[in-house]
Amino acid sequence: MKKIAVLTSGGDAPGMNAAIRAVVRTGIRNGWEVMGIRNGYEGLIDDRFVRLGARDVGGIIQRGGTVLGSARSEEFKTRAGQLKAIRNLNQNDVEGLVVIGGNGSQTGAHALHALGFPVVGIASTIDNDLYGSDITIGVDTALNIALEAIDRLKITASSHQRAFLIEVMGRKCGYLALMAAIAGGAEEVVLPEIETDPEKLAKTLTDAYERGKAHAIIVVAEGAEYNATRLDEYFKEHRERLGFGLRVTILGHVQRGGAPQASDRILASRLGAGATEAMARGEYGVLVGLIKNEVTTTPLEVVVANKKLLDPAMVDLAKKLD
Ligand code: F6P
Repeated sequence: MKKIAVLTSGGDAPGMNAAIRAVVRTGIRNGWEVMGIRNGYEGLIDDRFVRLGARDVGGIIQRGGTVLGSARSEEFKTRAGQLKAIRNLNQNDVEGLVVIGGNGSQTGAHALHALGFPVVGIASTIDNDLYGSDITIGVDTALNIALEAIDRLKITASSHQRAFLIEVMGRKCGYLALMAAIAGGAEEVVLPEIETDPEKLAKTLTDAYERGKAHAIIVVAEGAEYNATRLDEYFKEHRERLGFGLRVTILGHVQRGGAPQASDRILASRLGAGATEAMARGEYGVLVGLIKNEVTTTPLEVVVANKKLLDPAMVDLAKKLD
């Protein structure tokens, strides 16, 4: 093999740059030329290839976001878009592609592999919802940003004896919300995976108020049936009996924009190096992830066919600590 390419796709995640750096540097060590593709699959279709040398990825390990840019491409979801992408890879003499991203991105990687192009995925999403990796690049930093916000909101909540609904990201998966609730000492957590009874939440708030608590925190995953906006609407009719004054904070993309913490830089460096090692072995059509603290590969067809579930022990723990 002489030439590989790397792209970042889907929602950016802190640590993506460290993964790009690791792919480029270990690829060059293997004697390969490494190309970066701008703006994910969109750039692959539009032929936006740039040569990356070892120095081009200097000074990026500490930066959030992705220096290559990212996108969510509708055209790439079509067979015509995928064939165009493969044509561009072949025309640029690229023999192997590394895709850094989450569920949608790895579904795209699987499609390219199924069409015969050699691809290796790297598990990266703040949602941590990817089968084939216990932890994904970006989630730990995003979690800590959410925690900092929760800690601050608790201070102002206590000053006014208020309850806060704090919405964190997580389109289909409640991992971030669950971990933020446990580590942030929340009274309740609302998850997409578990049915919510708003009446029960109202009672939790009333009880906490009657016990004399200075504040109450409910962490809500954005993808839950009752997200923060819907819960706020529901509670409008019940304001009096809640006791607490109620406020809503939606953290949104703030969680994605941080500088990667040590854990994400190290994870991304390990997975980036793991991806080029897999390529050197001729192992393609796999996701490189971390399972039981080991860098592992899982076939992309297994990754896309399975849903990562929340750890029931963590759900129980959250209930015990409320
Ligand atoms: O998948 C990562 C994620 O941050 C989700 O938590 C969130 O729902 C989504 O991306 C937001 O996507 P966008 O950046 O396109 O608004």
